[in-house]
Amino acid sequence: MNVTKVTAFAPASVANVAIGFDILGFSVNALGDRVTLRRAPGGKVQVRAIRGVVEDLPLEAEKNTAGRALQALIESRKLPFGFEMEIDKGIPLASGLGGSAASAVAAVVAANALLEEPMTRIEMLVAAMEGEAVASGSRHADNISPSLFGGLVLTVGIDQPRVKQIPVPEHIHAVIVHPHLQVSTKQARAILSRTVNLSDFVWQTANLAGFISGCYTGDLDLIKASLEDVVIEKQRQALIPGFPEVRAAALARGALGCSISGAGPTLFALCLETDAPAVRAAMVSEFASRDIKTDHWIVPAQSGGAHVVSCE
Ligand code: HSE
Repeated sequence: MNVTKVTAFAPASVANVAIGFDILGFSVNALGDRVTLRRAPGGKVQVRAIRGVVEDLPLEAEKNTAGRALQALIESRKLPFGFEMEIDKGIPLASGLGGSAASAVAAVVAANALLEEPMTRIEMLVAAMEGEAVASGSRHADNISPSLFGGLVLTVGIDQPRVKQIPVPEHIHAVIVHPHLQVSTKQARAILSRTVNLSDFVWQTANLAGFISGCYTGDLDLIKASLEDVVIEKQRQALIPGFPEVRAAALARGALGCSISGAGPTLFALCLETDAPAVRAAMVSEFASRDIKTDHWIVPAQSGGAHVVSCE
């Protein structure tokens, strides 16, 4: 093995996509995290530096999403060596854009390039999920899978995950609006009811099935009718000031749907490419009327996943 140093990039992601809580997400490669690894003696992970838009993350590998993912990999592969790691954060903390997942994914993708025998994508997914659990308190892959594979991704199962990339009609774009607020994923999960009303269950199931069928068949009317979260959004919207008005503004400008990205506070809207600028302006203006600053992007609903950017 001649490679001694690898840097990998993993994109941000929108989890849940309104109707697929914990199982559906899409990648957003306008921003992401980079992880640089070197092999180190002994089966340990040493976090050497954390830079970029977030710096105050734990340096103890066990408490760091990327560090924990690498430890899981060392254990599962029984590796005789460890890693020295530097993390460059491009995704804001507690933003709902899958930052903890992206660091874990970038770490396993970089590690893979330093192994004698490469991993399968599913092995990488399982290791990265261990990292995600450090941040959110539970193993789920709706940020990990899109960040790793790219595009709109459905994940079925936890211990033996099955991953399906769902085709999205090409002219559908995503408007992503990140208000400058923070929402803790652990807290946003803790407030959720443990039970679901039967009628809501039926609607949410129909909406997930309708949305995915609409994507496969290019049926915009079905996508629009289905892209509505009747279970999670109403429990979390109080965490985001102005949420109902921002969502209504997006829909009034022609968005197919608008909801919370992951645990929030970022919001996303899916819309036709031609409607995206007006949808974005309306959402940003609603937040601005509450003195809330935002970052915002218009991106294709399908973009690439994690990859190695340099090897030495
Ligand atoms: N599906 C997760 C949630 C994403 O909404 O809590 C954030 O980890």
